[in-house]
Amino acid sequence: MSKTATALDVTSLTKVFHERGTKDVKAVDNVSFQVRQGEVLGLLGPNGAGKTTTIKCILGLIRPNAGGILVFGENVEEHYPRMLKNMSAVLEGSRNLYWRLTVWENILFFSGLHGVTSRDDKAHFEHLIRLFSLEDKRNVEVRKLSQGMKQKTSVACALARRTPLVFLDEPTLGLDVETSLELRAVLKQLATEENRTIIVSSHNMDVIQDVCQRVIILSQGRVVADNYVSDLVNLFKTKAYRITLHEPVSEGLEESLTSRFKGATLTSDGTIAEINVNLLENDDIYVLMDILRDAGAIIDRISHEETDLEKAFLEIVRRERNNNESR
Ligand SMILES: Nc1ncnc2c1ncn2[C@@H]1O[C@H](COP(=O)(O)OP(=O)(O)OP(=O)(O)O)[C@@H](O)[C@H]1O
Ligand SMILES: [Mg+2]
Repeated sequence: MSKTATALDVTSLTKVFHERGTKDVKAVDNVSFQVRQGEVLGLLGPNGAGKTTTIKCILGLIRPNAGGILVFGENVEEHYPRMLKNMSAVLEGSRNLYWRLTVWENILFFSGLHGVTSRDDKAHFEHLIRLFSLEDKRNVEVRKLSQGMKQKTSVACALARRTPLVFLDEPTLGLDVETSLELRAVLKQLATEENRTIIVSSHNMDVIQDVCQRVIILSQGRVVADNYVSDLVNLFKTKAYRITLHEPVSEGLEESLTSRFKGATLTSDGTIAEINVNLLENDDIYVLMDILRDAGAIIDRISHEETDLEKAFLEIVRRERNNNESR
């Protein structure tokens, strides 16, 4: 298979939930996207945006109302359940474990090997156990593990099968900082070294920004952004500056600021005054400095707010909501 093969192709996927006595919920609304082999794609969106439902439809756990899903060019529905051989998943929570089996037994069970393992498989499983620091718990029943350890076991089980396509729905939920960092490293490694395709949903923007090249943002069941992480961040790069001044500041300063810079604010706690201003043009910083000098202001500190994925995400979702409300 070539490096640029399309691993996943979702076209016009729609899922409506009908609950008796309540309004229908269009959980997934005409969603289309493609994922290349070896790509790590982030799936973002507020609670209820349709991320889990989209993943469940792809895995064949929920039957969509409309739309097509191809995995490595083959229609999932037509080739079900054979297509499942290509996919593994950790869904929300860690209920996909057998609580009375040990960590090791779960890995064996979910890798589909049921105790018959080649030396290579065994080495791989041991590697996963070490990776997630579960050596001490290897032979302990899963029900006796902490929440984070259960989560790690779930992820290890999903990775054990070495499927070309992996879905991780909130994989870092409940993981401590160190483990979360380790998992990120593992995911990047799997994509680059083993050319596996990984689709990760998370509310943790650091995780997404770190491991994904590309993100899809869902809002109310629709794709509202599909872009490279770096492009999204650039798109929302603001030139927001915060300037602190020594008190007292001259009376006319606020007026000169707000008349020149829309939305600028000047606040004061009596000892320190703070200006927050968005500079849009390259020259604006000089204009601002002139205004401050003319007012005789003494600058204590200037800081520049950096845009990250979280800010871009919040802005996209906010705009989408505003658009819908004004429709
Ligand atoms: N089995 C179900 N029956 C009825 N409605 C459902 C079902 N599963 C999901 N929904 C509804 O579909 C919508 C999308 O839910 P989904 O679980 O896909 O969101 P999500 O993006 O994964 O959210 P979160 O970030 O909270 O995990 C929600 O309005 C939810 O209430
Ligand atoms: Mg979800």
